[in-house]
Amino acid sequence: MSKTLPMLLALVAGGASLALAADAPKAGDAAIGTIPYDRFERPQVCATCHLDIARQHEQAMMSQAYTHHWDEIEYFRLAVPHAGIEPKVAGVRAGCNGCHAPLALLAGDVPPPEPAAGSRANESVSCDLCHSVVGFEGETPYNFNWISSPGKVKQGPRPGRVSPHHETVENPFLRSAEFCGTCHNEQSPFGTWVKATHLEWRKGPHGRAGIVCQECHMPPAAGRSAKMGEELPDVRQHLFHGAHDPGKLAGVVEVRIHPVEREIEPGDRIQLVAVVVNAKAGHEVPTGSAEERLLWLDVEARDARGRTFHLPVDPKGFPGEELTIASATALAYQDIGPMVGDAAFPGLLRDAPVPAGDRIFRLPYLDPEGRMTIAQWNTASFGTDYRLAPLAARTETFTWTVPDDVPPGELTVHARIWYSRLVASVAEHLGVPAEEWQPVPINEHQTTLTVLD
Ligand code: HEC
Ligand code: HEC
Ligand code: HEC
Ligand code: HEC
Ligand code: HEC
Repeated sequence: MSKTLPMLLALVAGGASLALAADAPKAGDAAIGTIPYDRFERPQVCATCHLDIARQHEQAMMSQAYTHHWDEIEYFRLAVPHAGIEPKVAGVRAGCNGCHAPLALLAGDVPPPEPAAGSRANESVSCDLCHSVVGFEGETPYNFNWISSPGKVKQGPRPGRVSPHHETVENPFLRSAEFCGTCHNEQSPFGTWVKATHLEWRKGPHGRAGIVCQECHMPPAAGRSAKMGEELPDVRQHLFHGAHDPGKLAGVVEVRIHPVEREIEPGDRIQLVAVVVNAKAGHEVPTGSAEERLLWLDVEARDARGRTFHLPVDPKGFPGEELTIASATALAYQDIGPMVGDAAFPGLLRDAPVPAGDRIFRLPYLDPEGRMTIAQWNTASFGTDYRLAPLAARTETFTWTVPDDVPPGELTVHARIWYSRLVASVAEHLGVPAEEWQPVPINEHQTTLTVLD
């Protein structure tokens, strides 16, 4: 039994006009063109009373999900043209908006005007969209299968809230991870799970313990949710920061490194072991838009004279491993060519800017021809999932023959974890601003060995 029916009943009890089942609000693709823009209030209206929440939401990516430059570039330069030439993916012309510009999808305004036009699509994932969601359709939340019923009644987490501007109804769905999953799980036209943040969470330790998304992304603080509201001990902060905030990323993955032997001689073949752990996230890292993200481990040794040596990771020999070790020359993303009308497009560097030989913790997304893609809608299958699961550690070894001319004294080995939101070669090719792909340091650790005379 899905959660939808009880939610709809709650809505009827809340006094909204839901006269006939046939008029019931629709979900997913069936909702296209069913609700005009003017049924939703603008965030500026909510901001007159919900001051802090409004300022927080303005700073979160969900309020920019349609206007953000990389979203605009990928939608208008890749997805929309691709939908025009490839029938299999035609649905994304409207579908991308189901999560990035939901008001435009509901209004049937697809593709919406470009962000510069200043249309209501720009409101992205707005206050009134989330607070009009009464439930979702089906068993699994995914592909914007939320059900929206905008109007006088705002869906909220608490009972008995009184507002001069609107009515409120307690809706437990807003406190659930499934609510987030309606947009944070996505299935491609090929039926592959190209976003699965909620599904990852559900099978992981936080999901099993019932620690929902809201606990980490909307933590409670004492205060008022509206300027004339009641003082409460636990007002949900609308922070929603993720990979776009270097502070949120900092330390999310931990690394420790040690040598198997502490005392060595020049010319020795030595081994180092690094342990990497996803210590803070409630889902895989990277999650969500994993097709675009790079998370990698870089190890470097420095001898007593200050000379540095880059250490490549030892291969483990599992199937598909070649896509998890950075190459300086491998090409991928050839499917961009046909999307932009360039059939001879050779592709772009698969792993830029990761130094060759470094381990990449990734889930390779593969196009119908088996090549890596950053177009999640064009993903027909996956390579081996080598991301970091929550609260699980993974070891990597580095075997290295110490050069004969390494001087006696300390040899320091540095392990660093880096993160980049978008493969650099793709970003540069499409003119995505540098702040979107420049690597961000996540964590580091160092250990020392002694080189004997
Ligand atoms: C004129 C002021 C005013 C405006 C405008 C306003 N609200 Fe409210 N709202 C309130 C007050 C006051 C409360 C009750 C807060 C309390 O006492 O905890 C409230 C409560 C809520 C709740 C219920 C919170 C809960 O704890 O369950 C939601 C949801 C909500 N508002 C959403 C919105 C949205 C979305 C908008 C814009 C479309 C909006 N409000 C506009 C004043 C306002
Ligand atoms: C991505 C969806 C989303 C957006 C966008 C969003 N909210 Fe919320 N809001 C929630 C959820 C979920 C909760 C309840 C969390 C919980 O209690 O677990 C909530 C809670 C609230 C509450 C009650 C807070 C409390 O703890 O008393 C108010 C008031 C509110 N939102 C207003 C707003 C306003 C105003 C905006 C826009 C400036 C907004 N929300 C944008 C999802 C959203
Ligand atoms: C235990 C705390 C925790 C829980 C529970 C949690 N998250 Fe996160 N989340 C994080 C941390 C820490 C990050 C930053 C690391 C990152 O970006 O991968 C993050 C990042 C994200 C990102 C940005 C990822 C990216 O690469 O852009 C999204 C989206 C997200 N979380 C959504 C969710 C959703 C949806 C849920 C519930 C299904 C959830 N989170 C549950 C801690 C949590
Ligand atoms: C209507 C669809 C929708 C719903 C519902 C939704 N999200 Fe999102 N969320 C998005 C989209 C789209 C983005 C990507 C924004 C962008 O373009 O970078 C996003 C991005 C995020 C990010 C990443 C921010 C960053 O800095 O990278 C976090 C964290 C997040 N959402 C958390 C949540 C949580 C928690 C919930 C449930 C309370 C939720 N979202 C519900 C659509 C949604
Ligand atoms: C089912 C909901 C959903 C659909 C459909 C969807 N997206 Fe997203 N999109 C998201 C969420 C959620 C995120 C944030 C994930 C994260 O941060 O890990 C996101 C992230 C992105 C990002 C990365 C933003 C950044 O700054 O890193 C781009 C670009 C993007 N989407 C474009 C598209 C395009 C183009 C389409 C249509 C082909 C599309 N999306 C369809 C939910 C969706």
